[in-house]
Amino acid sequence: MAYDYVAFKSDFYKLTGIDLNLYKERQMKRRIESLMTRKGFSGYDLFYKGMKQDEELLRTFVRYLTINVSQFYRNPNQWETFEKDVLPMLCKRFNNRLNIWSAACSTGDEPYTIAMICAKYMSIEHIRIYATDIDDDVLAFAKAGVYSAKSLVDLPMEYKEKWFHSLDDNHYEIDKKIKKCVTFSKHNLLADPYYKDIHLIVCRNVVIYFTEEAKDKVYMQFCDSLMDDGILFIGSTEQLLRPKEFGFESFNTFFYKKHK
Ligand SMILES: C[S@@+](CC[C@H](N)C(=O)[O-])C[C@H]1O[C@@H](n2cnc3c(N)ncnc32)[C@H](O)[C@@H]1O
Repeated sequence: MAYDYVAFKSDFYKLTGIDLNLYKERQMKRRIESLMTRKGFSGYDLFYKGMKQDEELLRTFVRYLTINVSQFYRNPNQWETFEKDVLPMLCKRFNNRLNIWSAACSTGDEPYTIAMICAKYMSIEHIRIYATDIDDDVLAFAKAGVYSAKSLVDLPMEYKEKWFHSLDDNHYEIDKKIKKCVTFSKHNLLADPYYKDIHLIVCRNVVIYFTEEAKDKVYMQFCDSLMDDGILFIGSTEQLLRPKEFGFESFNTFFYKKHK
């Protein structure tokens, strides 16, 4: 029998615990086939064998599953709403002590953005952000906390001046105090257990790669993770069509509140 995408998915799952059935198939096949061709493999069987023998190729592939592009203060309007309407509600409701989860955080731009905004309103020692991603390489990058100017283009000057140290013409290191607010760890949204007692979940620009069923399950689990009145913050191209079915009500565009 020919070794096809179905066989590849099953072997890849055994190797990594990542279930490609839960990612949109057309998009995923297109990405895999383009990487395979670029790397000089003529079929799924050879590509899988290549990944088994070459850890670097396997890492490249995991990195390639979804686009891990991120940026500080990505989609500025969303962060303005977060600061003006969402954070004040959360601080009041939970006495300025928030457990925050930045899920699928990529290179750390998003959790560090949250930390810098929260630091304007809360004592920095009380800011606790769990930041997770499936990809070891982006997590290592995030922990190092060194960014090129391109990552900072949308970040308002007040944050740049206060929380970044210039290393050379093009590189900036984030301040240790902000780094300390964030704990990075590996987590697969489609397989691992979810945090509990969270007040804010920020999960942007990853569920677009998941199948509808997988996406629905993620939203259900997010709702279980949150305390009552906790908030789910999603990406600018995303929407929960029937929030009530997941235990949410709309709080503002792109923000959903867990309702009792
Ligand atoms: C486009 S980035 C989003 C980064 C950030 N949230 C933002 O909006 O700027 C998507 C991230 O999702 C991660 N990812 C893909 N599948 C995942 C999964 N099953 N569980 C956790 N993270 C995943 C990727 O490694 C990548 O870093």
